[in-house]
Amino acid sequence: MVMNVLIIGSGAREHAICKSIEKSSIKNKIFCYASNYNPGIAKICHNISIGNINDKKNVLEYALENNIEIAIIGPENPLEVGITDLLDLNNILVVGPKKNLAKLETSKIFTRNLLIKYNINGCPKYKAFNKINGLEEYLKELGNEFVVKYDGLAGGKGVKVSGEHLKSHDETLEYCKNIINKNGEFIIEEKLYGEEFSLMSFSDGKKLKHMPIVQDHKRAYEGDLGPNTGGMGSYSCENHTLPFLSESDVIEAKKINNQILIALKNEFNDFYKGILYGGFILTKNGIKVIEYNARFGDPEVMNVLQILKSDFLEICLAICNQNLEDVEVEFENLATVCKYAVPNGYPDKPVKGEKIEISQLQDKKNLYFGSLDQINDELIEAGSRTVAYVGVGKSLSEAEKLAEKSISSIQGPLFHRKDIGTQELILKKVNKIKSLKL
Ligand code: AMP
Ligand code: GLY
Repeated sequence: MVMNVLIIGSGAREHAICKSIEKSSIKNKIFCYASNYNPGIAKICHNISIGNINDKKNVLEYALENNIEIAIIGPENPLEVGITDLLDLNNILVVGPKKNLAKLETSKIFTRNLLIKYNINGCPKYKAFNKINGLEEYLKELGNEFVVKYDGLAGGKGVKVSGEHLKSHDETLEYCKNIINKNGEFIIEEKLYGEEFSLMSFSDGKKLKHMPIVQDHKRAYEGDLGPNTGGMGSYSCENHTLPFLSESDVIEAKKINNQILIALKNEFNDFYKGILYGGFILTKNGIKVIEYNARFGDPEVMNVLQILKSDFLEICLAICNQNLEDVEVEFENLATVCKYAVPNGYPDKPVKGEKIEISQLQDKKNLYFGSLDQINDELIEAGSRTVAYVGVGKSLSEAEKLAEKSISSIQGPLFHRKDIGTQELILKKVNKIKSLKL
């Protein structure tokens, strides 16, 4: 018997998911419902259908036509529209929570309130607003150290940080009024200082199995400078933790993910089946929650799946059938460094439609295609993060060297961050945490 597996989405994250499914010992055929034609995914898949991945009916139709047994949802928008709910009603297994459970990512107010309601550590001081009442007073209370978060999916553009994006209370009030005028809601919360990290866990709704901790780099330029992006690259260490985290920090982050799972079950009387992604920051006052995502992080997924020893499809089935407890989830004790090459001008004014050349890259095994089209056998930049390469090694420096050499060999109007995973940048992060704790 061959199992038909549907992947929803078509970026580098979904390419990584496809590669891992392809390796499974369970015989399978991969189908992809995609927003664009990813040449990496196309090479692996039995069939790709291009369409609107947020259109529930079309996705269902495609799944039924192809006798899909299990679907894996890559991005957040299909979760928000409830594609899981519809596929589930039609007896298709889904890795990805139902619409109400996905509020963990789709509503920042929901998640902040959940932390408070269930007495979970790590919630910064915050207040939710849908009116102007009390706003000025709260800003005064926080002074110049605040963050405004739009309550909804905003493609990574929903967070405005004081001093960076918002220079004064007047500018902030103006920004908030705009949200209110569009009937939107938002959070104002205290600004946190420290180092961010991601802890992703497989979840069958009853049990979590944690993945190695990864650190992403959101800023576009070297030295963690410049505009925020979807993530320019990420690293993980051979011991599955990060150089600036203590053992108790790791225990605390895992505990928070576990408590979130229980809180969700209590809140909705339903099971969260999918990937639980905790976005944390280590501050001088310990670990705080920045956000939750209801899916794999991109680029973090490439670090973890690259070193997953166990059978990914078997894990996906265990997530859906709620027997994660009985399934092996093991990762190699290897370090990984993932670097993205992005179009010149990214993220504000990326070039588009330009050709890139990968022929100089000798070993393409760990190459992931992102925002890229294939036209007449040429690879053409589509405007967002283009290709990623994951270096794997016994140490971070070995992994970094491999990633750097490989991503540098890709030619075209692209750039990448040379500093991700280097000893120099890691040391800076370690020292930053040391000085915060003084
Ligand atoms: P989010 O969309 O919630 O992940 O936020 C995007 C980015 O904004 C995070 O990765 C942080 O760098 C920054 N951010 C979010 N919340 C805070 C906060 N309370 N203090 C400082 N930076 C924050
Ligand atoms: N790397 C951050 C995210 O996927 O949201």
